Amino acid sequence: MSEKKLFIQTLGCAMNVRDSEHIVAELSQKENYTLTEDIKEADLILINTCSVREKPVHKLFSEIGAFEKIKKNGAKIGVCGCTASHLGDEIFKRAPYVDFVLGARNVSKITKAVKTPKFIGTDIDYDESEFTFADFRNNPYKTYINISIGCDKHCTYCIVPYTRGDEISIPFDIIFKETLKAVQKGAKEVFLLGQNVNNYGKKFRNNHKKIDFSDLLEELSTIEGLERIRFTSPHPLHMDDKFLQVFANNPKICKSIHMPLQSGSDNILKAMKRGYDKKWYLNRAFKIRELCPDVSISTDIIVAFPGESDKDFEETMDVLEQVRFEQLFSFKYSKRPLTKAASMPNQIPEDIASSRLTTLQNRHNEILDEIVLKQKNKEVKVLFEELRANGAVAGRTDNNFLVQIQGSEEFLGKLKRVKITDVKRMVLHGEII
Ligand code: 5AD
Ligand code: SF4
Repeated sequence: MSEKKLFIQTLGCAMNVRDSEHIVAELSQKENYTLTEDIKEADLILINTCSVREKPVHKLFSEIGAFEKIKKNGAKIGVCGCTASHLGDEIFKRAPYVDFVLGARNVSKITKAVKTPKFIGTDIDYDESEFTFADFRNNPYKTYINISIGCDKHCTYCIVPYTRGDEISIPFDIIFKETLKAVQKGAKEVFLLGQNVNNYGKKFRNNHKKIDFSDLLEELSTIEGLERIRFTSPHPLHMDDKFLQVFANNPKICKSIHMPLQSGSDNILKAMKRGYDKKWYLNRAFKIRELCPDVSISTDIIVAFPGESDKDFEETMDVLEQVRFEQLFSFKYSKRPLTKAASMPNQIPEDIASSRLTTLQNRHNEILDEIVLKQKNKEVKVLFEELRANGAVAGRTDNNFLVQIQGSEEFLGKLKRVKITDVKRMVLHGEII
């Protein structure tokens, strides 16, 4: 089989990053593709899309239009991921030069898609939970492993249940074997992925032993050579005491946790159908800080959800003040098709949304400056995983701060003790001790 070149662009969440790795693995091992970063020499151009907010969807059509103009003669273009799921054959109508459309949750059909003219695979009931993908990883030291697919929470703003379908857990044996294989190949850290990881074990495709997320973490931590376990995203509703104890007491579990708040107002949380209130959220966050004093808590916040009043927004600011998140991902509410919130009354005008987002981000930056200042002179353990410009190498602490030192390849994949000598909002600088 002659060698062909693949160019792939990935947008969106960690789940998409892993889906792209699966696509590359399937195509390289079964269809003889090799990766290229030069789009002009590619025989196949793939865009793995995100549709969680509206902007990337608009960008998609202008981007594939640009790709069409520069691609070499005969090269194919495929649109994959969440936007492929929800727009389906509308993509062919708006961009007739697209060769195939492959939704999230249909990734295992990629080899068929590239060989079938105008292939469309967008079934959100398709069950890939037991499919064994070929192996490929961007980063040999940190390995992403899916533990569940889909989500059936149906938060009222969120399109994900309509692009990735209902939640289903991946069998324990598959996860364990995949982790073991990655560790044997040199991985030090495993990053468990799912839309709702701590709901793991609620539903499998076939009969399965009883297991929950805490059990899964404990079992994986027995793998020798595996040094760190991370996961995303957990749901605050499912953070029970058993989970918090395992999180706090298992030394391989990194003390960094994502707790998507979305809003601090009970009214808005109810309208979002999040299943918890402000009191529960604060209780969990404080409990985690009490059990793990060095923990980093990151969060997602949406401002200007339909009906959000000034008072509701103040409740969100109040949670920010109380929890003092180490990392914040914040978004203006974006109206998404198929979701309940899209037809709610009292959609918030753009200027109010922008001003709330700025208020939130500015205050968070102030908090962050105070937080990073406290990291100065600390001694931390860093897993180095990436070469940077000017002879620097970067990695993360257990609690997820990005640390950079002067150094080269010899540090990659190694855990080293570092003293923090200088701090910036986005990166800490240090020296090996
Ligand atoms: N508008 C704005 N932000 C959204 N998110 C999900 N859906 C929307 C939407 N319609 C955010 C949530 C979620 C993160 C991945 O994206 O905060 O946690
Ligand atoms: Fe979307 Fe809510 Fe599911 Fe997260 S939990 S993917 S926000 S529906």
